[in-house]
Amino acid sequence: MSNPDMDKIFSKIDNRGKLDRSDLVELLQSNLPGQMEKLCRKAYDVKSAEVGKRVYFRGIIEFSNICSRDCYYCGIRKSNFHSKRFNMSDEEILTAATWAWENHYGSIVLQSGERNDSPFVDRITALCRKIKDLSHGELGITLSLGEQSPKTYRRWFDAGAHRYLLRIETSNSHLYKNIHPAESGMEQRIACLNHLRDAGYQVGTGVMIGLPGQSAGDLADDILFYEKQDIDMIGMGPYIVHNQTPMAQTAGEIDAGEQLNKALKMIAVTRLYLRNVNIAATTALQALDPLGREKGLLAGANIIMPNITDTKYRAAYQLYENKPCLDENSGICRSCLEKRIKKIDESIGYNQWGDSPHFYQRKLELPDQDDLLSRGDRTGLNKSKIDA
Ligand code: 5AD
Ligand code: FES
Repeated sequence: MSNPDMDKIFSKIDNRGKLDRSDLVELLQSNLPGQMEKLCRKAYDVKSAEVGKRVYFRGIIEFSNICSRDCYYCGIRKSNFHSKRFNMSDEEILTAATWAWENHYGSIVLQSGERNDSPFVDRITALCRKIKDLSHGELGITLSLGEQSPKTYRRWFDAGAHRYLLRIETSNSHLYKNIHPAESGMEQRIACLNHLRDAGYQVGTGVMIGLPGQSAGDLADDILFYEKQDIDMIGMGPYIVHNQTPMAQTAGEIDAGEQLNKALKMIAVTRLYLRNVNIAATTALQALDPLGREKGLLAGANIIMPNITDTKYRAAYQLYENKPCLDENSGICRSCLEKRIKKIDESIGYNQWGDSPHFYQRKLELPDQDDLLSRGDRTGLNKSKIDA
């Protein structure tokens, strides 16, 4: 079925015209049969041209569910007294990082609940150094450890981390207030994104898709937010209810199929609009559909974060329900993902950092080229890290 408005937008895309907000809304809310496939095909063409048909792995170590925050949607919020808390030892974390390096993963992600105390900050600093040492500088390190002070962000960058993920969750300030306690303000989150960029990181953010009360206009604004913040990497996924959270009471019935479609459309439209950023096919997609992550890649994503956390801790790190791969181990996930990726005719960028091309573009636009070159090795400008 054809829709003249959509056809106009598609020809604008073909002619490399700049989409405006109303185009983004139209694309995001289209539900006509056949349009979704067309949208994903266009996004896939842009992905192939800008970042290639290659998936980069970031082995994620979810090393602790101890959290000082109380986000209303999240299963590991501090007030969830049903959650069995754990904190992996340094040795266990380093074993997982070594496994990633020996298995040719270019990068790892360290993620945990949020803590700001100085033993925690010191621990992460030491771990970054050790991970760099054990891999002879080869493993790229992404951190996903929430809101921290500018000083902490700089310390971790200086210790070897070069990417940071901090989701804005939603760029609509009313919605943000509805899903977070009063002490967790949106201004602070935006300030952190700026501090991360100033510290030199490749900066990642993202939103939850299909939040109660979220419109197609809100999602279009999220994409414009990514553009305004000059974001390098996007990690976004469907909102999935966790029963032990306050939002489970208010969310009502959410249809998994619709939720998945919304998330895939959001990936496709973000790829069409931002073109050269890295976009993750997040695990939450697979919680809704066994083929969710492959569908994410076919809609324009180019990053996967295989879980490399010790199996015995996986069940306790459930931010949402139905999380996949809880009983699998790192080796099973690796071969499972290899098969899935081969099936869609893409390759895996082993031994490469797979940094966001957008990051280099924004660095090259900086007036101070010396700064760029002096950070070159760390930020992956080292050619051997980015070449195929
Ligand atoms: N559904 C989907 N995503 C969630 N996250 C936390 N809780 C949920 C949920 N119930 C996401 C948030 C957070 C990331 C680490 O996990 O976006 O930033
Ligand atoms: Fe973990 Fe498939 S990715 S089992």
